[in-house]
Amino acid sequence: MKKLIALFLFVLLILSSCTYFNEQELFPNEVCDTSNITYSANILPIFQQFCYRCHSASSGVIRGNFNLEDFSNIQREVSNGQLLNNIKHDPAGIPMPQGDAKLSDCNINKIENWINNGTLQN
Ligand code: HEC
Repeated sequence: MKKLIALFLFVLLILSSCTYFNEQELFPNEVCDTSNITYSANILPIFQQFCYRCHSASSGVIRGNFNLEDFSNIQREVSNGQLLNNIKHDPAGIPMPQGDAKLSDCNINKIENWINNGTLQN
């Protein structure tokens, strides 16, 4: 019986450690700070986390011939509207990150704000 309880607790521990909580689900009212956005501090980390595995020379994978590490590519995809269409899952674009959940509203807002402020490489 003791072994059974130990096994039960072990399984419980494994299960609970696998639970994934999305920050936005846990704190839905947490404010999203979209002020003072800079590329290096706010945008680059989003691209690195959600896009680089398919769009960077450093990962060795450049899908859609789109290397996010080259800033001129970013500027092109911003000015032709594809970048925003894609991350917003607009029917006019191709949903990105491909095959994955949409970015959080907060991350999308940050990117949109950064674009509206001139797509600076700051
Ligand atoms: C799992 C791989 C994968 C991930 C992750 C991914 N992409 Fe893509 N992306 C692709 C593929 C594949 C294409 C080409 C799709 C096509 O042309 O049908 C593409 C195309 C694009 C294009 C269009 C490029 C062009 O020249 O037409 C943009 C813009 C883009 N992705 C942005 C992003 C952004 C921003 C992220 C992160 C938020 C991201 N992608 C994450 C696989 C991915």
